[in-house]
Amino acid sequence: MKVNGHPYRSIERDGLRLLVIDQTRLPHRFERIALDSVDDVAAAIRNMVVRGAPLIGVTAAYGLALALARDPGDDALQHACGLLAATRPTAINLRWALQQVVEHVTALPPSGRAAAALERADALAEADVATNAAIGAHGAGLLRTRWEALGRPPRLNVLTHCNAGWLGCVDWGTALAALYRAHDQGVPLHVWIDETRPRNQGASLTTWELASHGIDATLITDNAGGYLMRARKVDACIVGADRVSALGDVCNKVGTYLKALAAADNGIPFYVAMPLSTLDWQTRDGQSEIPVEDRGSEEVTHISGLSDRGTLERVRLAPEGTRALNPAFDITPARLISALITEHGVFPASEAGLAPLRQAATR
Ligand code: MRU
Repeated sequence: MKVNGHPYRSIERDGLRLLVIDQTRLPHRFERIALDSVDDVAAAIRNMVVRGAPLIGVTAAYGLALALARDPGDDALQHACGLLAATRPTAINLRWALQQVVEHVTALPPSGRAAAALERADALAEADVATNAAIGAHGAGLLRTRWEALGRPPRLNVLTHCNAGWLGCVDWGTALAALYRAHDQGVPLHVWIDETRPRNQGASLTTWELASHGIDATLITDNAGGYLMRARKVDACIVGADRVSALGDVCNKVGTYLKALAAADNGIPFYVAMPLSTLDWQTRDGQSEIPVEDRGSEEVTHISGLSDRGTLERVRLAPEGTRALNPAFDITPARLISALITEHGVFPASEAGLAPLRQAATR
């Protein structure tokens, strides 16, 4: 996608150096930083310099390639895998991408592993772009259908949570890809963006992305969505996902579940956009089986932003000594989800609904 007219991907490779957009500095600074080693990559994922399920998967795949370029032995491969897998526990794409690289290189002699890993990581990055373009096309179709079913109102009000845009993928995004495509096709969108406490991905990233693409949007507090839904000011909700269970339960940024509950109570469709790599066939009951990351209390007790002096600062919100809990994700049961939008089309969120995707996954 374009930033000031220049096309970027959220991760690019220059030889054995990765260039990523530092998402902790957006929207106030657009800075790209270089990652030269597996340790750099692990730190960037852990500290959310890069974030979003598809992007952390691709970045981890590159991290493995960088590790193998320094030491292609079995021990180094195992160590790098462990290091990268431990960075963030919830998004299944991270483990999936690591597995893709490991399967590709394990049988090779050490001398051929680094080049093969790099080739596989490049392929995963390219595939992510194509996948998200397809998700965008299918999602835009759903939004257009909704707009037409409502009698083509002057604007279709869509609520989104967190950032499921190109910043969280290699390009396009998942949920936001649907918005970009619908907008480009002439559906008159207005987007309600949840701020998404405590990391504020909605306030910092989704606002920036949608404005760059010329989409009309309004930032709201996380707690305003229910009120707006009851006031008939939301026509559809669309979010991304970090892991989807075989029964169709959706794990996504904390707060998603409450929005899905409010949407169901108000008869508003709740769509989830995600690539097939986000489906965890080993997991059935999302609530009890998906590990939810606890990101620690300081993200709740403190907040970061741009001061009136123009400096990036972090300030305390809660009294010193306040205990805070910070689960980063929650699980929305399948029964609250109207449809899952994937690169293969639109599917019901249920075991039977997902059955055709199981076949696509094994091809
Ligand atoms: O903690 P984050 O910012 O990595 O969480 C990201 C989300 O929850 C996104 O909605 C999800 O990964 C879909 S990304 C395209």
